[in-house]
Amino acid sequence: MIEFDNVSKQYSRDAYALRDVSLSIPDGELIFLAGASGAGKSTLLKMIAGIEKPSSGRVIVNGQDISKLKAGSLPYLRRKLGLILQDQKLLSDRHVLANVMLPLIVTGASASEAESRARIALDKVGLPDKAQAMPMELSGGEQQRVAIARAIVNRPKIILADEPTAFLDRDNANKVLSALKIFQSAGVTCVISSHDEQFLDQASRVIYLRHGQVADSWQAAVAA
Ligand SMILES: Nc1ncnc2c1ncn2[C@@H]1O[C@H](COP(=O)(O)OP(=O)(O)O)[C@@H](O)[C@H]1O
Ligand SMILES: [Mg+2]
Repeated sequence: MIEFDNVSKQYSRDAYALRDVSLSIPDGELIFLAGASGAGKSTLLKMIAGIEKPSSGRVIVNGQDISKLKAGSLPYLRRKLGLILQDQKLLSDRHVLANVMLPLIVTGASASEAESRARIALDKVGLPDKAQAMPMELSGGEQQRVAIARAIVNRPKIILADEPTAFLDRDNANKVLSALKIFQSAGVTCVISSHDEQFLDQASRVIYLRHGQVADSWQAAVAA
């Protein structure tokens, strides 16, 4: 369960990235976070991961108030999250399998254990034959599916994906969403942001953001 309780975020004194956001996301749902560029989607996702702290209000993930977590506990929280964020590109100097193994290696798994779990993750996103490819050799959609594989090797309970379908054509975007849905059907909560209306009907619920506030509909979210 993810809960936002009157959360506001100000990066500067008079600019709110989020204002009085209250919402709750039950376990196992696939939620779209929709809104125009600048609406606060990335900020909201980063708060779930504890990357940004609320200026006021509380963010509670699996019963824990994120802003009260000590810095030392954050890596432990993040390990339970699968993050597909925009500023976390694949490492271009190593092949796909090594990229997907990385989260396991840094948490102390043996190389053989990491490799077998990374191969299973690549299977799940439909890319078993790309293990030895370099990221540059893949299409944008395939790179995003590798990022999903990397995000799920630690078997997270929650996946946060920030605009994973941006820059993809419809066919590739659908493949990325299908890959995420497989994890949702296995019980993982998925929160996916998008500024694109065309996929919203695939979610169990859509949360619309407009200028940092929750809005009622896509029309209300994009209204000037
Ligand atoms: N690190 C930051 N410092 C200052 N302002 C920021 C920062 N990150 C985001 N913002 C501002 O907060 C607002 C919401 O941004 P963001 O959460 O990135 O929206 P979205 O992901 O929906 O495009 C925007 O006005 C943006 O300029
Ligand atoms: Mg964003």
